[in-house]
Amino acid sequence: MIGRLNHVAIAVPDVRKAAAVYRDILGAEVSATVAQPDHGVTTVFVTLANTKIELLEPLGPASPIAKFLERNPDGGMHHVCYEVPDIRLARDALRKSGLRVLGDGEPKTGAHGRPVLFLHPKDFAGTLVELEQG
Ligand code: CO
Repeated sequence: MIGRLNHVAIAVPDVRKAAAVYRDILGAEVSATVAQPDHGVTTVFVTLANTKIELLEPLGPASPIAKFLERNPDGGMHHVCYEVPDIRLARDALRKSGLRVLGDGEPKTGAHGRPVLFLHPKDFAGTLVELEQG
């Protein structure tokens, strides 16, 4: 079921500052800064040879990462994203095994325009897991 590691997401208080470290010091390829009001975040993607880093800054008062940053004011790892070939099949199999899918269980369009779902951190060793249809 599980495919590639699509990205590791890091919540940060200042996405431009965080992106500059990856670009200017580490020499990584860094995307433009994109406000995603539908998701309540501003994102930058850092492309590495084998995966991506998604830098997330809260956008708006109802941002889903606002509470996380209150608890982790310097930022921190927010989630990992695994690719699956068929997200609905993956969801049904996970549920059958008793794992919890967050929200109403219907895939939403993620930051890359592909269907995504989030899985409960308590079922994954304390780590929020995003599934993306690859
Ligand atoms: Co993500």
